[in-house]
Amino acid sequence: QADLKNTLLEINRLAGNYFYYQLKQPQGRVGYEYFRNRGLSDETIRRFGLGYSLKTPDDLYRYMRSKGYGDGILKETGLFYIEERGSRDKFWNRVMFPILDVNNRLIGFGGRVMGEGEPKYLNSPETKLFDKSRNLYGLNFARTSRAGYMLVCEGYMDVIAMHQAGFTNAVASLGTAFTSQHASLLKRYTDQAVLTYDSDGAGTKAALRAIPILKEAGISVKVLDMKPYKDPDEFMKNLGREEFQKRIDSAVGSFMFEISVIRSQYNMQDPESKTAFYNAAARKLLEFPEKLERDAYTEAVAREYMIPQEDLKRLVSSLGGQY
Ligand code: CTP
Ligand code: MN
Ligand code: MN
Ligand code: MN
Ligand code: MN
Repeated sequence: QADLKNTLLEINRLAGNYFYYQLKQPQGRVGYEYFRNRGLSDETIRRFGLGYSLKTPDDLYRYMRSKGYGDGILKETGLFYIEERGSRDKFWNRVMFPILDVNNRLIGFGGRVMGEGEPKYLNSPETKLFDKSRNLYGLNFARTSRAGYMLVCEGYMDVIAMHQAGFTNAVASLGTAFTSQHASLLKRYTDQAVLTYDSDGAGTKAALRAIPILKEAGISVKVLDMKPYKDPDEFMKNLGREEFQKRIDSAVGSFMFEISVIRSQYNMQDPESKTAFYNAAARKLLEFPEKLERDAYTEAVAREYMIPQEDLKRLVSSLGGQY
């Protein structure tokens, strides 16, 4: 088993070097240009080991065979479709993102189409090395950050854009849901997370799911307001690092974020809907068993949504909450 893993690591490393090498070849120029057009510097490309997989269907496969690896082990890498009548590469004409674990071991890859196309990202399947729910992209760098908190985002380009802008404490769960294993892993390095998920519906949903998981692991959570941009990569391109830092500094605690999401589901022009929001907010305040904490949050909600504090307290009390 240990031997198998070491061989898989060796093959991944060869593949990573191969993709990286192609980026600097004439046939890989298109991948290099893609990254440069998205604002990545040569230094960033090198640091993240970005690469390019050729248009030819089986060049990586033939390269690995020429190195003496057999079909059995190559199948285990998840990098190939191994078939009797002809084996092929999984990644084909894509820009490549090697995925490193905290110990800088190359455990898998993501590959993006250049431009439009489906699927936008193709990832290594789960292998003996690669467990998506236990690894965070960027943590190999972020672990040594001294910021005192981690920025948690969705995607490869978000992590890379933040690191390039100097926020070297950014990590991503790579499209998969944030798991309790992710949270325990993160907890080894920090007890404060700032969520920088996409500002769309999917990103908001993902943030709402991640919050209790992080809190359960003992990590306190804030949520950064990305608007009007969609994700950290776009934000950085448009407003830059100083504005991003300001957004970090003004990130709201997870509870106030959750309340704001609840609020967005109601129409405050309509008395019935508005009343329903007050009730929903009051029920949410019941989550705090501690009197002092509930007092503090009730005050904050009352202030934020201009609800008379005493009225809100009365409503919470009527639902069974004590003040
Ligand atoms: N993702 C994936 N497969 C897809 C789409 C997304 O694995 N078909 C993962 C990737 O890790 C991606 C993340 O989910 O980085 C976030 O998805 P999305 O917001 O759609 O992509 P971006 O990261 O914004 O990518 P880009 O800026 O390159 O469009
Ligand atoms: Mn895949
Ligand atoms: Mn998204
Ligand atoms: Mn993006
Ligand atoms: Mn995105």
